[in-house]
Amino acid sequence: MAGPALRGATITGWGTALPERVVSNEELAKTVETSDQWIVARTGIKSRHLGGTTSALATEAARKALHMSGVAKADVDMVVLATITADQQCPASACTVQDELGLDCGAMDLNAACSGFVYALVTAHGLIATGANNVLVIGAETLSSITNWDDRGTCVLFGDGAGAVMLQATNGPGQLLGWDLNSKGHLRRLLYADMGVHLVMEGKEVFRQAVKAMTASGNASLTQAGVCAEDIKLVVPHQANVRIIEASMKRLGIPLERAAVVLDRLGNTSSASIPLALVDAIENDRLEQGDLVLLVGFGAGMTSASAVIRWGAT
Ligand code: UT7
Repeated sequence: MAGPALRGATITGWGTALPERVVSNEELAKTVETSDQWIVARTGIKSRHLGGTTSALATEAARKALHMSGVAKADVDMVVLATITADQQCPASACTVQDELGLDCGAMDLNAACSGFVYALVTAHGLIATGANNVLVIGAETLSSITNWDDRGTCVLFGDGAGAVMLQATNGPGQLLGWDLNSKGHLRRLLYADMGVHLVMEGKEVFRQAVKAMTASGNASLTQAGVCAEDIKLVVPHQANVRIIEASMKRLGIPLERAAVVLDRLGNTSSASIPLALVDAIENDRLEQGDLVLLVGFGAGMTSASAVIRWGAT
């Protein structure tokens, strides 16, 4: 489901936050039966950052995005925080961010698992289409709080962190050319965390479904945007496993060199992984004004989400 934007929006600021503590594969191998060699070969992950709280990481990333955008605090209309690891059952961690930043605006959390940031970004475009001017969009997680540290099948995968962008209304059509949000709820048993309990995953099947979902969603957004795979300068995929990224890029028909990859250093940070990879690409000068970017993710639900944006569009 999608339609033409009523009022455009564009990203004008960004920021990230990572806990100080870096945990290597070797360190994990001291507590569970695993090895650096296995983790690197099967996932591409070498280390991850662990610690902090979701609201503190979200606040730090959002503070940087707000500052960079130059938007006055009084002019922020909404905080949308994508997370599956809110500090509390309620209230939303977005309310803590709003308070900590001294904003006077709406605030809500959004749970679409690892697809969360793209869901939040599309939601923010909708808010701007219907009258908001400035929306802070954040993906933040402390997955370490729901990880079973005795389960080698999952504990080697996850990391903590946050990424944020400021989305501002534009006079022109804005950056969003196409988007796709999907959920296959009948597959929710493949990846879940019951209330107060650790995350459980059927890794092999999630892998299979992930490649299918990334490809289908990515193609749906390309079609809606009216662009081809060759037109895409940068793909920012969810960072779960480098083999999932490789397989999805191949199926999308986009060379692997065009993917943003940070999971070797950060692991899988769920909702935070796409903004963390996006900001890394920006900081490494991989984007120029007018470039087409495909954001694409999947996660528990099983949700999937993608968006084609024109970088720097007004
Ligand atoms: O954000 C979205 C959520 N998650 C994902 O996208 C994850 C998707 N799945 C995956 O990335 C992969 O399935 C994993 C990385 C989780 C697992 O890789 P795999 O190649 O599918 O391995 P497997 O589960 O089939 O296990 C192969 C072997 C097993 O041993 P046996 O039965 O062959 O003797 C596992 O017990 O590897 C063993 N194994 C490990 N060995 C060393 C599983 N985890 C580990 C480990 N270290 N950490």
